[in-house]
Amino acid sequence: MATKKKGGAKKVAPAAKVSSGGRKTAALLVEPAKGKLGVMVVGLGAVATTMIAGVEAVRRGLAKPIGSLTQMGTIRLGKRTDNLSPLIKDFVPIADLNDIVFTGWDIFEDNVYEAAAHAAVLDAETLKKLKPYLSKIKPMPAVFDRHYVKRLDGKHVKKGKNKLDLAEQLRADIRAFKKTVNRVVMIWCGSTEIFLKPTAVHKTIEAFEQGLVKNDPGIAPSQIYAYAAMKEGVPFANGAPNLTVDVPAMIELSKQNAAPICGKDFKTGQTFMKTVLAPAFKARMIGVKGWFSTNILGNRDGEVLDEPKSFKTKEESKLGSLEYIFQPELYPDLYSDIYHKIRINYYPPRGDEKEAWDNIDIFGWLGYPMQLKINFLCRDSILAAPIALDLVLFLDLAKRTPELRSIGIQEWLSFYLKSPQTAQGLYPEHDLFIQSMKLKNTLRHIMGADLITHLGLEYYD
Ligand SMILES: NC(=O)c1ccc[n+]([C@@H]2O[C@H](COP(=O)([O-])OP(=O)(O)OC[C@H]3O[C@@H](n4cnc5c(N)ncnc54)[C@H](O)[C@@H]3O)[C@@H](O)[C@H]2O)c1
Repeated sequence: MATKKKGGAKKVAPAAKVSSGGRKTAALLVEPAKGKLGVMVVGLGAVATTMIAGVEAVRRGLAKPIGSLTQMGTIRLGKRTDNLSPLIKDFVPIADLNDIVFTGWDIFEDNVYEAAAHAAVLDAETLKKLKPYLSKIKPMPAVFDRHYVKRLDGKHVKKGKNKLDLAEQLRADIRAFKKTVNRVVMIWCGSTEIFLKPTAVHKTIEAFEQGLVKNDPGIAPSQIYAYAAMKEGVPFANGAPNLTVDVPAMIELSKQNAAPICGKDFKTGQTFMKTVLAPAFKARMIGVKGWFSTNILGNRDGEVLDEPKSFKTKEESKLGSLEYIFQPELYPDLYSDIYHKIRINYYPPRGDEKEAWDNIDIFGWLGYPMQLKINFLCRDSILAAPIALDLVLFLDLAKRTPELRSIGIQEWLSFYLKSPQTAQGLYPEHDLFIQSMKLKNTLRHIMGADLITHLGLEYYD
């Protein structure tokens, strides 16, 4: 692994001091986070409102940003003996939470306070304290088509003569918002759309633009938002498993317009656990015969996923991780015959408080069988909100980093996503700890600090 030789890591100071520190050249390449960061959220449902209310609660000192790496995480610099582990937000110039301004779109007219109350993730007392702020954030009319999300029917939608016209209306929304802030990032926190496969319309930008004019059914609303974002040079994150930017035309647009993108589908509960446990089994050469995962949840997301075509999109996204982590082609005796099953059951009494069960059939020395059971009583949006925030902040950082802004896919953000996106021909890295190392080394790299390889032989010289 190449390391940047621009002096000793010990000299790397937190970002605030970097300009007067020893690493000027590299650090100054990352533009500072000056002024307001506008965050445009598509879909003001459970995750989005929990993120927005959470940011405001943290700004007011009412709560801590638990679960957010950008707010609470540290990064080790230099040798273990250097004892230098600043907060990530002090090392890289990340936008301050006080500088974030939220806006968004939804198919329902509810303001963020009403939507948060409906989602019922945060308690009424907390929401009441935040009501004056949250009530002021009102959604703009959405681009929506029931064909792609069959379980929802909202009336707060744009009308246009074709999909290009709708994209132009979104671009006008973005341009108007840009006048009020200094930088903009867009994040999809909207519903899961029906399962779509890439077709000819997704191959090139030209084909895509013709498809917008001809109302090609291969172009879902999420892609109209992503197209509008990228044409305006706005980074785009995708919290759902929708196809959206995972097609050649969008990757090209992202590069051309310096609008960074990353993979899809927030990695929150069950898949998060899978990408921790599966690498552990593999590291110890423990075999796996079956992995049965089932969930009950009762929020609107659960209702949408109750529809088989939307569930298929989610299922594909959730299934991928094990196959890639276990590499059955390298370990046929251990992983070539795994039965992997995923179920999501809509169960209204639970609301956002999802319960997940995993039964894992494993085998060890001489093939003797064992079992592992996990029962995860989680809160879906409590896990997802800090991920959404971190993605927004890191994509804004990527946009301000010359080395990253025009490369398209930000693979270093795979850490947060069930379906990481990669350059063509590369398999995605799902192992959470490799992803974490990749993310932190990318931050060290853009700030001109030495990468950490964990070799550690220098301590024994
Ligand atoms: N909560 C989690 O842990 C988690 C994890 C991974 C992925 N996700 C995904 O994140 C997304 C949001 O989840 P949620 O729990 O907030 O769902 P939700 O149903 O509470 O919110 C989605 C919102 O998007 C709106 N919407 C749908 N289509 C839209 C469009 N075209 N334009 C504008 N708004 C639109 C809906 O009206 C709704 O308000 C879902 O796709 C979900 O699968 C959630």
